[in-house]
Formats: sequence, C-alpha cells, structure tokens
Amino acid sequence: MARQFTESKIVIASHNAGKVSEIADLLEPLGVSVISAGEAGLPEPEETGKTFIENAELKAKAAASVSGLPALADDSGLSVSALGGAPGIYSARWAGENKDFESAMKRVADALLMSGQYDKTAHFHCALSLCWPDGALETFEGVLAGELIWPAKGDRGFGYDPMFVPNGYTQSFGEMDPNKKHAMSHRSIAFQKLLSTCFQK
Ligand code: IMP
Repeated sequence: MARQFTESKIVIASHNAGKVSEIADLLEPLGVSVISAGEAGLPEPEETGKTFIENAELKAKAAASVSGLPALADDSGLSVSALGGAPGIYSARWAGENKDFESAMKRVADALLMSGQYDKTAHFHCALSLCWPDGALETFEGVLAGELIWPAKGDRGFGYDPMFVPNGYTQSFGEMDPNKKHAMSHRSIAFQKLLSTCFQK
C-alpha cells in the first residue's frame, strides 16, 4: 500500500507562482493547506537529473528535508518525437534566462524543419513527486500526446501551449479554454494518480 497523506499542510516545491496556485486549487477541496517554496524560504535546487522523474524527486526531497514538511514537486516539459524527445527536461532552459517562449517555440519549429522529417508528433510529460520528511517518496507520471503546428496559434496558457494540439482536438492549447486544458493535461493525469493512490483516507 502506498504511503497515505494524513497531514494538514504541504509545501509546493516550486518557485513558479502559476504552478503553485494551480496545485493549491487542486488540493483545496481536500482540506490541505499549502505553502510555496518561496514562503518557506527554500532555495531552488539545481535540476541535475537526467529524467523528469529524477528532477521531480530531487526537488521534492530537498524541500521536505529543509522544511520538515511533506513536499510536492513536479517536473514537466515537451518531448518532440522527430527531435529524439528534445527539448524534454530542458524545455524551460530552451527559453533562456528571459523565459522567452516565442523564441523557444521557434527553435523547436526550426529544429523540426532541419530534421527533414514530416513527423510532427509530440507529447507533454509530467512527473509529480510527493516526499515526506522521513524520506518516503511516491512518484506519478502523466503523458499527453498531440501534434505540433507552426505558426503557433493563440495567446492563452503558457510555455509551448500555442504550438501544441492534443490528439482528437483541432484547437491548440493556446486557443483552448484553460479549464478544458486543465481537465486533460499531463499534470492533471499525474495529479489524479496521486490523489487516487495517496489520498484514499
Ligand atoms: P519545469 O518548471 O522545470 O518543470 O519546466 C517546465 C517547462 O516545460 C515549462 O517552462 C514549459 O516550458 C514546459 N511545459 C510544461 N508543461 C507545460 C504546459 O502545460 N504547457 C506548455 N508548456 C509546458
């Protein structure tokens, strides 16, 4: 049986305000109070892992051991089939220090063109890790498959959303109602697994 979450407080091991509020919304109905890594004064660990899971786990472990509270961390990104899975765990880093996703999307589109392949398939990937201060760890993954479009469309969402159309839809995540995106996203798939495994009590 997986470790059950019975505490009333959790740290979200992220310095990204958007991610913290998205996760806080998901946890609110469970009566769990949330503090962010920033509020807990936690440093941002270097993402030295080679996979989404390794990065999510190292962030969750670092936050739990420094704060003394259970900590939840996610690591996510876009993996493009014709680029051997790039940008993958480097998705945020492709946008540079200025977090310029216009140029990150252009870099993906250019790399796809240079690859000479017609395969536009890609997926968003999310690894979500919950770590307790005693070191117990539970990790879940969510994957959402789709196709890339260029030029990108829409100004909703964030990151690579405007160039990603999920399978079975015609709108990009940049055009779609955010609630519709949140109901199907890689993050929500991983989160539902976390809830059904660690929040059964
Ligand atoms: P992380 O904060 O290191 O996990 O970086 C995740 C990066 O992956 C983000 O900065 C985005 O570039 C990309 N990403 C992850 N999830 C999404 C999404 O739902 N839409 C668009 N881009 C995403």
